[in-house]
Amino acid sequence: MPVCRITRVEDFCASHRLHSPHLSEEENRALYGKCNNPNGHGHNYRLHVTVQGPVDPATGMLIELNQLAALIRECITDQVDHFNLNVDVPFLAGVIPTAENLCLAFWRQLDGRLPVGELYELRLEETGRNIVALCRD
Ligand code: NI
Repeated sequence: MPVCRITRVEDFCASHRLHSPHLSEEENRALYGKCNNPNGHGHNYRLHVTVQGPVDPATGMLIELNQLAALIRECITDQVDHFNLNVDVPFLAGVIPTAENLCLAFWRQLDGRLPVGELYELRLEETGRNIVALCRD
């Protein structure tokens, strides 16, 4: 039985600073470079959310995209858009806001909340050149 995958894209803007409490100031600067700037910087993020499941023969759809979009906004993008990811977002408290960690946190926010199908992949573009994907194994 083939499985269907459907993707919704949502954008948000946010600021952050990459700084690990486990490293020295010098090590932080060497590792994160410009992303370690003390006063932070911003990104225009693009989040791809892929859901997989069967196509409902009654509707010809896997999931209603408006419903998926609303859920992504409620669980993720409304909570991060135009905020500082280091200090403003309760579900990111204590998290170094790398794209990898953002994907892990976003996964926890959304997994199990879908009305049908299951979360298959999150793909976060921090820039057009830096892209992280987190996939159900
Ligand atoms: Ni950055």
